[in-house]
Formats: sequence, structure tokens, C-alpha cells
Amino acid sequence: MILRDMTEADLDTVLRIEREAHAHPWTLGNFSDALRSKYQCKVYESDGTILGYAVLMLAVDEAELLDIAVDSKRQRHGWGRKLLDEMMALARRHDMRRMVLEVRASNAAAIGLYRCAGFADIGLRREYYAAENGREDAILMGREL
Ligand SMILES: CC(C)(COP(=O)(O)OP(=O)(O)OC[C@H]1O[C@@H](n2cnc3c(N)ncnc32)[C@H](O)[C@@H]1OP(=O)(O)O)[C@@H](O)C(=O)NCCC(=O)NCCS
Repeated sequence: MILRDMTEADLDTVLRIEREAHAHPWTLGNFSDALRSKYQCKVYESDGTILGYAVLMLAVDEAELLDIAVDSKRQRHGWGRKLLDEMMALARRHDMRRMVLEVRASNAAAIGLYRCAGFADIGLRREYYAAENGREDAILMGREL
């Protein structure tokens, strides 16, 4: 398994995974902006196959996880946890003291992943996301690194 920088050449695969994984996926423009913004955009690869990816924003001493996904065919095999651990290690190497993120209140898989990785709820943004039937709350989660 290797964690490497995401490039423009990965975006077809990344977008395919993103669209299968999320009801409200990031667009090509979102990923291109993330690459241009010098966020930490990483793919997690095994034998040349991208299993998942994550995007991290580093700000002073706090890292914000902006996106993380595992190919829907490969979920529930521990890759999400390994990828998240790699992103936390990366943040520590950049002297980040805390990692934070926002997650849809209905996203049981992601909330389960973050809780098992030591994240706790730190806030709630009511009706933050567009949803199929109106709006949906965002849960803010965080942990010390
Ligand atoms: C969230 C996601 C990255 C998890 O990846 P994964 O490789 O399936 O996760 P893992 O196999 O490493 O699971 C780690 C833990 O997370 C929790 N978890 C994972 N999937 C879960 C699910 N469907 N329901 C409940 N808990 C789940 C469990 O606690 C699991 O530990 P366990 O398998 O020992 O019970 C994956 O479901 C995904 O890509 N989802 C779509 C994208 C997304 O929602 N990203 C988060 C945006 S905030």
C-alpha cells in the first residue's frame, strides 16, 4: 500500500469513486481547485489500483479533513481506517496539533470510522448541507493529534 500525491491524471478514477461513494459528490472543479490550492491531496494505492483518497487542508496548527473515500467495492476491509491513520500521521509531520472535519448527520459509515479513530463530536451546524428532502445537519468532529 502506498500513499502518494494525487495528480490531474488520477482525476478520472477519483471522480468515479467519488460519484459511487457520495450522494453529493465533489465535482472535477472541486478536485482541480484542491490540487491548485496546494491542499494535501493523496491517493491510497495498491499495485497501481487506487483504493481511496483523501484531501486535507493544513492551517496553522489545525488540519481539516475535507474529503475521504474508499472505492465502494473495497469498503469494510479496513482501508478507510488505514487511510485516515496515514492522513493523521501526515498532519503530525506538518506539526498539526488537531484534526477536525464535518460530516453529514446521516453518514453512519463515516461517523463510525471517525469514532473508531478517536474523533469526538465538537459541534453541530444545523441544516448545513443540501439534502434530497430539504437540508441536513453537519456534525463537527475533532481529535488531538
Ligand atoms: C467512510 C468510508 C471512507 C469508510 O471506509 P471503509 O474502508 O469502508 O472503512 P473501514 O473498513 O476502515 O472501517 C473502519 C470502521 O469504520 C466504521 N464503519 C465503516 N463502514 C461502516 C458502515 N457502513 N456502518 C457503520 N460503521 C462503519 C466501523 O467502525 C469500522 O470498523 P469495523 O469494520 O471494525 O466495524 C467509506 O464508507 C466511504 O468511502 N464512504 C463514502 C464517502 C464518505 O462518506 N466519506 C466521508 C465524508 S465526511
